[in-house]
Amino acid sequence: MEPLTLTDTIQSEEDKKLQEEVKSSGSIPNHIAIIMDGNGRWAKDKGNIRLFGHKAGVESVRDITESSAQIGVKHLTLYAFSTENWNRPSAEVNGLMKLLVNSLKNEAERLHKNNIKLTSIGQIDRLPESCQNQLQDVIEMTKDNDRLELCLALSYSGRWDITEAVKKMSQDVAKGKISPDDISDDLISSYLSTADIPDPDLIIRTSGEYRISNFLLWQLAYSELYITKTYWPDFRRNELYQAINSYQKRDRRYGNVKNGYTKKLSAAVINKIIS
Ligand code: FPP
Repeated sequence: MEPLTLTDTIQSEEDKKLQEEVKSSGSIPNHIAIIMDGNGRWAKDKGNIRLFGHKAGVESVRDITESSAQIGVKHLTLYAFSTENWNRPSAEVNGLMKLLVNSLKNEAERLHKNNIKLTSIGQIDRLPESCQNQLQDVIEMTKDNDRLELCLALSYSGRWDITEAVKKMSQDVAKGKISPDDISDDLISSYLSTADIPDPDLIIRTSGEYRISNFLLWQLAYSELYITKTYWPDFRRNELYQAINSYQKRDRRYGNVKNGYTKKLSAAVINKIIS
């Protein structure tokens, strides 16, 4: 039995039951990646400025992180700030960075008690120093935890990730460390910022937009997508369970045919069909 955690002590009986149902109804995705979208519209609908939406979004981050850990998700990657987000008005960017520092400070102990390991991907050196330091403190504090890895994508974009990997690979080719013939699917993956994280099984996007927005472009090749109209600050564990339920009903074929479909066709039959 897993040791009691801070989270377990506040979990309702109804939620425990729901989690048991999710766990028994199919496989739990090993890695869930989320495009948290709709904070601005959520705030606007309430007559507030966008920063209120981001603040409310932190509550969802907490709820989704804890419920993911409880049901046995091993990797959770959150798209918290994209390289394109730097183009937003400076007041919003500054507010978001301060919110990140505060949230990391406030949540550090709770993450650690819940045996959650924090990591990050992206251009971390572009973040304000206070943010880099706070992030580093929590990463260091939680580095040996192994219940769930929470990876924050910060100043991240899929194209940046691939560009960096290509640069490093070309340098290694120039140094003679690898030859162009060594370049393979797996080798490219090993040069990405996500080298130590398996590809996502499920990608969730909130707020109803049908796009990937430069998220894990290489890594999502075979991920299942779940898009909901719910804005991120309203996305809580019950909807996470719905997303997982939807994932459990998918037939992941990775470009192959359905298991058990073994009908053999003779060359004559094939020729007849295609002629
Ligand atoms: C997208 O909504 C959301 C973001 C750019 C920021 C997400 C950040 C948080 C929820 C806080 C992160 C905190 C931690 C601890 C990880 P949007 O602003 O694009 O909304 P809109 O599409 O309605 O304008």
